[in-house]
Amino acid sequence: MLNLAILISGRGSNMENILKAIKKNKIPIKPVLVIANKPDAKGLDIAKKLGVKTEIVESNGLKGGNWEYDSKLVSVLEKYKVTPQNGLICLAGFMRIMSPEFIRHYKGKILNIHPAILPSFPGLHSQRQALEYGVKYSGCTVHFVDEGVDTGPIILQAVVKIKDDDTEESIAKKILKQEHKIYPKAVKLFAKGKIKIVGRKTIIS
Ligand code: GAR
Repeated sequence: MLNLAILISGRGSNMENILKAIKKNKIPIKPVLVIANKPDAKGLDIAKKLGVKTEIVESNGLKGGNWEYDSKLVSVLEKYKVTPQNGLICLAGFMRIMSPEFIRHYKGKILNIHPAILPSFPGLHSQRQALEYGVKYSGCTVHFVDEGVDTGPIILQAVVKIKDDDTEESIAKKILKQEHKIYPKAVKLFAKGKIKIVGRKTIIS
């Protein structure tokens, strides 16, 4: 069975939801570790309560995309046997850009959830970007992480309708509900070996 690590920076609701779905739906993957880059990440306590080991790898001012930081992540991941051969890494609100070295090391083994229908509104504050642009629909995307920002092959997407009186917060809430549906589904597909990357697309069997 694959070993799963989930990386978070804060609240950890996607992490919690994935961990619960693994138990409930018997997804064939073993959650071995949750890593936060911030010691006060709320999700750490939730992970502990759900019986998953936690580690803090503090960024200490090191900018995203930095191998000095990411190599520390690799050491911790290896300690818990999350390897390129038998591991999956889920970024769940992990608000750092990964370095090219990290991405190459775990090529095809890193998933991310993004709160927009990519390729629209990549990067930060996607819900605000959607509101300000005036789109009528937005949503979320689970994708593989490649060396660009939110550019990797798309696995699953879900759409929400934006109403005239929506705010950034109300959009975020609607999108989060959909995130909680599609991220565990994507983990299940991956764990069952059902996702193939072909060029920049995925084919799901
Ligand atoms: C989620 O909405 C996720 O899509 C977003 O952060 C939130 C984390 O919530 N991620 C990004 O914006 C990545 N660019 P959570 O900690 O409750 O899962």
